[in-house]
Amino acid sequence: MSDNRLSVTRAKQGLCGTLSVPGDKSISHRVAILGALAEGSMHVQNFLCSEDCLNTLRAMQQLGAQVELLDEANAANFCLSGTAMSPQAPVADIDCGNSGTGMRLMAGLLAGLPFASRMYGDASLCSRPMKRIIDPLALMGARIEAQGRKPGCAPLSIDGTELQPIHYDLPMASAQVKSAVLLAGLLAQGRSSVHQPAITRDHTERLLAHFGIHCEISADGLDIALEGPVHVIAKDITIPADISSAAFWLVAATIVPGSDLTLLNVGLNPTRDAIVHVLLRMGADITLMPKSNLGEPYGDIRVRYTPELKATEVYVEEIANLIDEIPVLSVAAAFAAGTTKIRNAAELRVKESDRIATTAANLRAMGANVEEFEDGMEITGGAALHGAVMDSHHDHRIAMSFLVAGLCAQGETTLLNCENINTSYPGFAEHLRSFLS
Ligand code: S3P
Repeated sequence: MSDNRLSVTRAKQGLCGTLSVPGDKSISHRVAILGALAEGSMHVQNFLCSEDCLNTLRAMQQLGAQVELLDEANAANFCLSGTAMSPQAPVADIDCGNSGTGMRLMAGLLAGLPFASRMYGDASLCSRPMKRIIDPLALMGARIEAQGRKPGCAPLSIDGTELQPIHYDLPMASAQVKSAVLLAGLLAQGRSSVHQPAITRDHTERLLAHFGIHCEISADGLDIALEGPVHVIAKDITIPADISSAAFWLVAATIVPGSDLTLLNVGLNPTRDAIVHVLLRMGADITLMPKSNLGEPYGDIRVRYTPELKATEVYVEEIANLIDEIPVLSVAAAFAAGTTKIRNAAELRVKESDRIATTAANLRAMGANVEEFEDGMEITGGAALHGAVMDSHHDHRIAMSFLVAGLCAQGETTLLNCENINTSYPGFAEHLRSFLS
């Protein structure tokens, strides 16, 4: 087996017991960025030590933040000392690796700092649209040049300057764009606000509240405003497990006969939990066991095998909430009676891969019935899946979704180019193996 390929065969028994998946990726990026701005030191627990989040943390160290491990054996827990709102100019270009979140959020920050910086990334990241953050930041006075071979793409060269507050109407439901504007707004003098066409993950707003910075949020959750400039004071934080990583096991345990699995301390933020609600609508046997709410709701999730899964239609207002879970939801749909409809999801085409094309191609390679649309897919379940050799297109979520599908397929399933699983879920292959032995 080469480093970049992973293979599975049909699971011989159910997935049982308890499992802790790693910390939340979205929250970890934001903790690194806001912690680096803060005055003072904070204990961070359960940070996601994946390539994406470590790149953001290293970038913050380049700006002067300090990271001290509390336990050499566990890099997820550390003491983060911030720069008291005075980051220093990085001496080298900032490597964002594969991470759109890292690059887009950091652009909001770097645009308003008094020095020049440059961010670059891998081939996938350098082909993803950056105009969506450059446009609003330019309206605030930011000077950002997209230097990629593709127009509007990274590397991004940023000539930091004083920013003006704005009101911005987001053209798409994107937490990354919202957060880039809000982070820039932290440094601008006055009130910055955004209007989003649909609710997107609200980790930035919750984390700002954790640090004592008030965001005004409208009753319908679509409008967010804050007053800059702010002063962030460090405060300890524990990051819940990532529901997007848990989603692979929610689907796996739902489709593998005999499963009874409990996922521990998973983030249950209502702007991220649509995967649970959609699976429940499909008849999945899932029980939520919420624990106390520490700024971010979290709890255990018990999931048991469901022999008679039924198709569903994903509502338009659910799309942003489960955008990262659509590849693995599509796998569940292939095991459900009827046709599952996923539309209004054109954003999937500009993720780490074109996830409509890559999901549809891989489902077809395994024998599933899929109709592809510009903005989504319709998947008719019930055909027995067979193993295949498939490309993950260097996309972590495609790799993990189809390894899950392989647990219920005839023969061997192999995913090529799986190295990017480490961008969000280091340890996935070990967890998978533990269920196969
Ligand atoms: C993220 C937001 C989503 C998501 C990404 C993480 C975030 O992207 O797909 O994996 O942490 O803000 P968009 O907001 O651009 O849809």
